[in-house]
Amino acid sequence: MECVVSSVVAVLVVVHTVSMTHAADHSQVVAEADALRNSGWWIWRDPDTSNHCSWSGITCNEAKHVTGIRLRNYQEPIGEVSELNLSSLPSLNFLILSRMGLSGSISDQIGSLTKLTILDLSHNQLTDPIPHQIGSLTKLTHLDLFDNQLTGPIPHQIGSLTKLIHLDLSSNQLTDSLPHQIGTLTELTYLHVSSNELTGPIPSSLGRLTKLTHLDLSYNQLNGSIPHQIGTLIELTYLDLSWGELTGAMPSSLGCLTKLTSLDLSMNQINGSIPPEIGNLKDLVTLDLSNNLISGEIPSNLKILKRLWLLDLSYNRLSGNVPSFITNNCNQTTFDLSQNDDLEGHPGYSICTGGHATSLTLIISLPLTLFFVALILGFAFGLWWKKRQLQPESMPVKKRRGDLFSIWDYDGRIAFEDIILATEDFDIRYCIGVGGYGSVYRAQLPSGKVVAVKKLHRSEIDEPTYLRSFKNEVRMLEQIRHRNIVKLHGYCLHNRYMFLIYMYMERGSLYSMLSDEVEAVELDWVKRVNIFKNMAHALSYMHHDCIPPIIHRDISSNNILLDSKLEGFVSDFGTARLLDPDSSNQTLVVGTYGYIAPELACTMVVTEKCDVYSFGVVALETMIGKHPGELITSLSSSLCQDIMLRDVLDSRLSLPEDLQVAKDVVFVILLALKCIHSNPQSRPTMQQVSYKLLSNIPFPKSPFYAISLHELKNQEM
Ligand SMILES: *[C@@H]1O[C@H](CO)[C@@H](O)[C@H](O)[C@H]1NC(C)=O
Ligand SMILES: *[C@@H]1O[C@H](CO)[C@@H](O)[C@H](O)[C@H]1NC(C)=O
Ligand SMILES: *[C@@H]1O[C@H](CO)[C@@H](O)[C@H](O)[C@H]1NC(C)=O
Ligand SMILES: *[C@@H]1O[C@H](CO)[C@@H](O)[C@H](O)[C@H]1NC(C)=O
Repeated sequence: MECVVSSVVAVLVVVHTVSMTHAADHSQVVAEADALRNSGWWIWRDPDTSNHCSWSGITCNEAKHVTGIRLRNYQEPIGEVSELNLSSLPSLNFLILSRMGLSGSISDQIGSLTKLTILDLSHNQLTDPIPHQIGSLTKLTHLDLFDNQLTGPIPHQIGSLTKLIHLDLSSNQLTDSLPHQIGTLTELTYLHVSSNELTGPIPSSLGRLTKLTHLDLSYNQLNGSIPHQIGTLIELTYLDLSWGELTGAMPSSLGCLTKLTSLDLSMNQINGSIPPEIGNLKDLVTLDLSNNLISGEIPSNLKILKRLWLLDLSYNRLSGNVPSFITNNCNQTTFDLSQNDDLEGHPGYSICTGGHATSLTLIISLPLTLFFVALILGFAFGLWWKKRQLQPESMPVKKRRGDLFSIWDYDGRIAFEDIILATEDFDIRYCIGVGGYGSVYRAQLPSGKVVAVKKLHRSEIDEPTYLRSFKNEVRMLEQIRHRNIVKLHGYCLHNRYMFLIYMYMERGSLYSMLSDEVEAVELDWVKRVNIFKNMAHALSYMHHDCIPPIIHRDISSNNILLDSKLEGFVSDFGTARLLDPDSSNQTLVVGTYGYIAPELACTMVVTEKCDVYSFGVVALETMIGKHPGELITSLSSSLCQDIMLRDVLDSRLSLPEDLQVAKDVVFVILLALKCIHSNPQSRPTMQQVSYKLLSNIPFPKSPFYAISLHELKNQEM
């Protein structure tokens, strides 16, 4: 009897539990549907509101629990990431919201997604720190937060994600040091944290990541020396530690990384000599050690590196004989010694011509030719943002093996085919702008890096003399390194194609931002003053630190590009000359209407002062929010006495309240007015402008609201 009773009870208990589970399960499904619906992201696209599992990008399991969300590339920003209540979606396996214009911060609810294996929030505008709850996602294999505006340190809890294979935190504003706990992620094959604000040393624990094939820590402020433990990363094919503050000597253990194809340590303060073990890296295609403090001789065993295409040792302190393999090979296109090769007749580039040179000083002045390419950079770029619908010229595809004239360095692994694949043969969908020189495309390379590709409208590619000067000039422009100049990575001449590859600038041109009512407000006074400084430093560098000086010739707000942090970059340095290498500074077709210095109409001679004038116009435009147009005319008449500063400043922003900001704004206007002086001799040089920025100027006597443009125009600098 007792037995019977207890078994009945047992059955009842079981039935009760099952029905409770069903009810709980059903309410969970309802909660998931509600979470999706409440986000508002699907409602416009998927009118069938009854079955959320059928909505675009949603994956459900049989029990109708949402296991995956995959949305990419929506045309319009969909809102804040917090609109999706993540804690209602505990079954999520993957969450992919890439390039969705998402803003706001990653909520700490993310920690409830314990089943997540893939988290991809790349290419959005997410802000604030990465929540430490991310450490709960212990099943993650793939974490991609590339290209956002995340701040704060990388949480050390990331060390709990021991299944991670792919980790990309590049292009954010992450600070503090790289947590040593990253060394526990021993399954990692791909680790990119470039373009952040990380400081401190490279943790030696990275040496435990023995499966890594890609390691990119570039564009940070990492300091200390390269840990010798790096030599244990024997699977590495790609290693980029450039643009940091690394010191000390290159560890000889680098010679253990025998699978490396690309090694970039440029733009650091590495000293000591080049370890001869580098000669073990037999697969190396790119070796860039430029802009360091490396001394001693070039090891002669580098000649074993048969696949080497780019060897850049410029801007170092090397001495001794130039090994004969360099002098003998320097005119092969696949062996690029950057500014040291193929430069007959260029003073300072004598390595090729003097095969018996006894002393190699690789600190090289930037020659005239540098100026050509930099010009190219921004011109077409600048227009990209709003002009995606414009039709690029169509070109027949004709790929024959072996007719590749030249490729570029970038990471040593880009090939012509990568660009064709990434842009689907220059499909209009990838076109981000059209300019006078060509159409610009966005290309995501297999390594994940994004570049801008400018396909030039040009038909003279077949002329040998044209080709030669083009190649020389591009190579030298590739060497321009300034933090506010859009970097040219390389070029390709291929049958009828001719294109240049540049750093990709997320926010498009200054012109397009100022023309957009919403984006213009994002550019507050502090950012605008900063962009002014960026431009001034870049131009001063080209005019005064390059010998001979490089004149841009086409500064306009279309050529000032902005990165994700709204830092200004001058683009298109050198374009005009690059496309017409035989032209002197006497020229017909340069400049953009509205930015051309008045004297140019008469003299046709381009000088630095023409750039200064255009710079002044762009500076005014930055502060008043539109091209100054007639304001420039009225400034030269006596009417300007009546024009008040407060009345010309961009009315979409409220007047600066902070005293320092107000001073900076006044200062920018003052310098801009000096730069647009009708007499070129009366304009300051870019160096003077750049120096003034570092010094304190006297504030005008009048209070801010009473300052007139006339007063500023006549004030001493
Ligand atoms: C999010 O979902 C959880 C669980 O379903 C719920 O407790 C919480 O109140 C929700 N939060 C918001 C802001 O709706
Ligand atoms: C690295 O930089 C940090 C500050 O960012 C500093 O405290 C530390 O001393 C530096 N270390 C070296 C070796 O320069
Ligand atoms: C390299 O720099 C470090 C400091 O960063 C210094 O201690 C060392 O002596 C230097 N070595 C050489 C060869 O100059
Ligand atoms: C380099 O160019 C010269 C003259 O243009 C030519 O004679 C020589 O064979 C070339 N060397 C190589 C290795 O291609």
